Amino acid sequence: MRTQVAIIGGGPSGLLLSQLLSKRGIDSIVLERKTRKYVLGRIRAGVLEQGLVNLMVEAGVADRMQKEGFVHNGTQIAYGDQMFHLDFTEHTDKPVIIYGQTELTRDLYDARETAGGKIEFNTDHVAIHDANSEKPYVTYSVAGKNRRIDCDFVAGCDGFHGVSRKTIPDTVRREYEKVYPFGWLGVLSETPPVNDELIYSNSDRGFALCSMRNANLSRYYIQCSLSDSPDDWTDQNFWSELKRRIPPDQAANLVTGPSIEKSIAPLRSFVTEPMRWGRLFLCGDAAHIVPPTGAKGLNTAASDVHYLYNGLRQHYEQKDSEGLDRYSELALARVWKAERFSWWFSSLMHRYPDQSEFDLKIQRAELEFLRSNKSAQAAMAINYVGLPY
Ligand code: APR
Ligand code: PHB
Repeated sequence: MRTQVAIIGGGPSGLLLSQLLSKRGIDSIVLERKTRKYVLGRIRAGVLEQGLVNLMVEAGVADRMQKEGFVHNGTQIAYGDQMFHLDFTEHTDKPVIIYGQTELTRDLYDARETAGGKIEFNTDHVAIHDANSEKPYVTYSVAGKNRRIDCDFVAGCDGFHGVSRKTIPDTVRREYEKVYPFGWLGVLSETPPVNDELIYSNSDRGFALCSMRNANLSRYYIQCSLSDSPDDWTDQNFWSELKRRIPPDQAANLVTGPSIEKSIAPLRSFVTEPMRWGRLFLCGDAAHIVPPTGAKGLNTAASDVHYLYNGLRQHYEQKDSEGLDRYSELALARVWKAERFSWWFSSLMHRYPDQSEFDLKIQRAELEFLRSNKSAQAAMAINYVGLPY
């Protein structure tokens, strides 16, 4: 088989890139090791920056998101017995859209199928060959049959546990990592959200987040120990702990119900450099991971897709390699700013096992500064809604 761009990974990065390329007549094949059903079974964050919304519009996949997504012009920040509204539009011209990543991925799958896009599911043993040459190719097997795709370029959109990043030689690749000493226990419940906006809460019992998917589907998180497992938490224990971590008036409004999904995610910051090696380009979680606090995972994957899509368009339409040559530089410049914001917001909102009394005082002072200072709020708003591409 031959294609212009072989895309490894059928998550949001790979699907969005494939859809955008197809709108410009650039051929691609997506190799996904799982099934569509499995991929759509993953519960992920649901805060979309305007940059991602614009890419979905350009990809022709924005209708349902624009109909069903909630427009949020701010968020609630709670600490101690305080809770304040941080207004995005007071400081930026952009809201965020609340729309589950699962739904966004579903919309992309539907669009690829409608467009006759080539997606191979249940692929095994994917391997990238001669990435640092003019003639890269990918081998894999499906249903026990070995396959080969000759291509111009390979997009490594296969997430943190994929093969793409490791294709870049250890002598070339540099990795930067910070592992956080806690996890997030998340619950999905068919209950109305506790508040019209998200609530990020720093309580003396640990972090909590009240989020949502739609008017009758809520997503809640509490910081938990890395030694916890979801089975350690009954729904009742989860709800009573969440109520202890959010302001009393919010806790009084909380509608609880059976969890339809309950999972624990570890938190890490991770970046690999470079994001390009020859004709292999890393995109999204294949290249970087953020703690979910700032909701930057999907949104930073989107900016990678933006840079790679435009670099490929420039190559094919104008025979100009500048966009591809600058891909790693441009993508990483924005990735590191998202890493910083996600680390900062995580440091501000969580309780760390080794925090001293002094550390707690500093954290409280920073929260007070954020609550009382418009410039501090502007800095947070500008990062939260998404820095420019
Ligand atoms: N071969 C083929 N597919 C693979 C391989 C492989 N060797 N390894 C992983 N994959 C697939 C996974 O099954 C997954 O569907 O690649 C896809 C990668 O998707 P994501 O992990 O969702 O990464 P990405 O598309 O970059 O999206 C980033 O997703 O995980 C969230 O928090 C993350 O919101 C962020 C967003
Ligand atoms: C979510 O809705 O899952 C969510 C929202 C905001 C975050 C993280 C997760 O910062």
